[in-house]
Amino acid sequence: MHSTFKAFGIWSLASLFSQAVNAATFFPLLNMTDTDGNLIQAHGGNIIQAQDGDGSWYWFGEDKTGETTGGTFIGVSCYKSSDFSSWEYQGHVLKPIADTNISDSRIVERPKVLYNDKNSEYVMWFHGDSSNYGDAQVGVATSKTIDGDYDWKGNFKPFGNDSRDMTIYKDPDTGTAYLIHATNNNADFSIASLDEDYYNVNETQYTFKGVYQEAPGVFKIAGAYFLLFSPQDGWTPTDNGYHVATSMAGPWSDKTLLAPEGAYSYLTQNAYDITIKGSKETFYLYLGDHWSGNQLGSSTYAFYPVIYNGSALSLHKTGGWTLDVEAGTWSDLPDTTITADNSTTAEEYLVTCDDGCTGGKAANMTGSSNFTFTWGGSAGDKVVQIVYTYPGAKNAFKHIGATVDGKPVEGNALLETTRANTISQQAPIPLTLAEGSEVVLKLLDFDGTQFLVDGVQVYDA
Ligand SMILES: *[C@@H]1O[C@H](CO)[C@@H](O)[C@H](O)[C@H]1NC(C)=O
Ligand SMILES: *[C@@H]1O[C@H](CO)[C@@H](O)[C@H](O)[C@H]1NC(C)=O
Ligand SMILES: *[C@@H]1O[C@H](CO)[C@@H](O)[C@H](O)[C@H]1NC(C)=O
Ligand SMILES: *[C@@H]1O[C@H](CO)[C@@H](O)[C@H](O)[C@H]1NC(C)=O
Ligand SMILES: *[C@@H]1O[C@H](CO)[C@@H](O)[C@H](O)[C@H]1NC(C)=O
Ligand SMILES: *[C@@H]1O[C@H](CO)[C@@H](O)[C@H](O)[C@H]1NC(C)=O
Ligand SMILES: *[C@@H]1O[C@H](CO)[C@@H](O)[C@H](O)[C@H]1NC(C)=O
Ligand SMILES: *[C@@H]1O[C@H](CO)[C@@H](O)[C@H](O)[C@H]1NC(C)=O
Repeated sequence: MHSTFKAFGIWSLASLFSQAVNAATFFPLLNMTDTDGNLIQAHGGNIIQAQDGDGSWYWFGEDKTGETTGGTFIGVSCYKSSDFSSWEYQGHVLKPIADTNISDSRIVERPKVLYNDKNSEYVMWFHGDSSNYGDAQVGVATSKTIDGDYDWKGNFKPFGNDSRDMTIYKDPDTGTAYLIHATNNNADFSIASLDEDYYNVNETQYTFKGVYQEAPGVFKIAGAYFLLFSPQDGWTPTDNGYHVATSMAGPWSDKTLLAPEGAYSYLTQNAYDITIKGSKETFYLYLGDHWSGNQLGSSTYAFYPVIYNGSALSLHKTGGWTLDVEAGTWSDLPDTTITADNSTTAEEYLVTCDDGCTGGKAANMTGSSNFTFTWGGSAGDKVVQIVYTYPGAKNAFKHIGATVDGKPVEGNALLETTRANTISQQAPIPLTLAEGSEVVLKLLDFDGTQFLVDGVQVYDA
């Protein structure tokens, strides 16, 4: 498609808008829907490229439809995409089997699929458990085709040890795969190599003792392994970090954080880390889960670019960005920022913000105020990222609803507490705006907890 544009001489126009024709666009934390319009249910999952066929990408994860604070096995979902933007549902590729360790009264979490070259087969590993998390096993299933169905081979404890949060990782250079998992009642974090079939573990490579880490993932960059993890804290977002080593057997470095302390990885937990070898650049993509701790079925996802500066990794904070998967190039999408003091919010609700928020003022929505603005940009479908601080208790959520020109908008933005710090977070809401639209953002739950809106960032959807 690019070359078509080049031929007509408007390539420079396309790049001006920084949205190449086949580019994916990402709005972190926004509800994502599949090509049928249903919410994507692929939590705690992974995304790999098919070995054969058209090289499409496949996203595997937990279907948590309808779950509130927990739930048992519904199915491992699979979605297919060529560009990371449009995802076509492939159904459940692993389903509950009655009266077994993967029945619908048991737990299947963090499903991950890798391709095994020796057997020309896709191998899925997952955390398999009893409903009270007492069994602490891994499970293995295989399929000759990436989109299943996967045949379950069984659940077991690796080397007889308990195993909880986990991933599997395939070294792209050697083809050896590894299980990285929380063990010893969640205290230890251990790495074991898999046998050549990827059916079992065959040797412990390294154990981090007493670190209470989970949600592992790996990038291999310039010969070094970057092992990402989150600290353990239930469904609460934490400061994810990583260790570095030149061998999976260590020695591993101390941890480095992926984002500023207290930013809680921009409200995510690591799910999977994807290296995209584009024709121009190699790109590092972080897939995070945003767990909605009391409405797990409506948990969202956040894709963030990972920046490698030659020695360290960091998550790039952004409200909207675009990736050309074929080329491996990316950029932030342009946005229109409307700060509180440039909004039409009543003057009496503006307060000075002590965190250096853009514009120096924030709208105090602690009481029954609202954030209002007049849209001066072009008409169309927008994603509005609400930038806020909400120093409530851990696991506290708020909802913001919107009216556009007096009409209530369906759906509401979910805002999670930023806890005791003043690092602002963002929550997206899709809005259709006309030029001159009057927008009212209204807090739906008042509990007296301080709640400040710095402003909004408006993106073309
Ligand atoms: C099922 O789990 C039990 C432990 O709870 C284990 O002994 C047994 O081998 C497992 N069987 C299969 C087929 O996964
Ligand atoms: C796993 O169990 C073996 C004994 O079966 C033990 O030697 C080893 O330390 C355990 N590994 C971890 C990470 O707990
Ligand atoms: C484990 O399997 C890998 C292949 O996946 C192999 O290279 C390694 O030698 C095996 N280790 C042991 C201890 O069998
Ligand atoms: C990379 O980032 C780390 C952490 O912020 C910093 O210590 C280091 O100096 C940076 N290196 C380069 C080459 O910029
Ligand atoms: C507020 O709007 C004015 C006028 O459009 C503009 O000059 C100013 O830069 C804006 N301030 C901020 C903080 O965006
Ligand atoms: C915001 O308003 C609440 C009452 O609605 C008040 O208690 C609080 O002090 C205000 N915050 C700031 C920063 O002025
Ligand atoms: C927004 O808040 C102001 C001040 O509290 C109030 O006058 C107005 O009615 C509110 N608008 C809506 C749509 O709730
Ligand atoms: C996102 O989806 C959930 C249902 O899972 C819904 O409650 C919420 O309103 C949606 N959010 C937006 C901004 O549409």
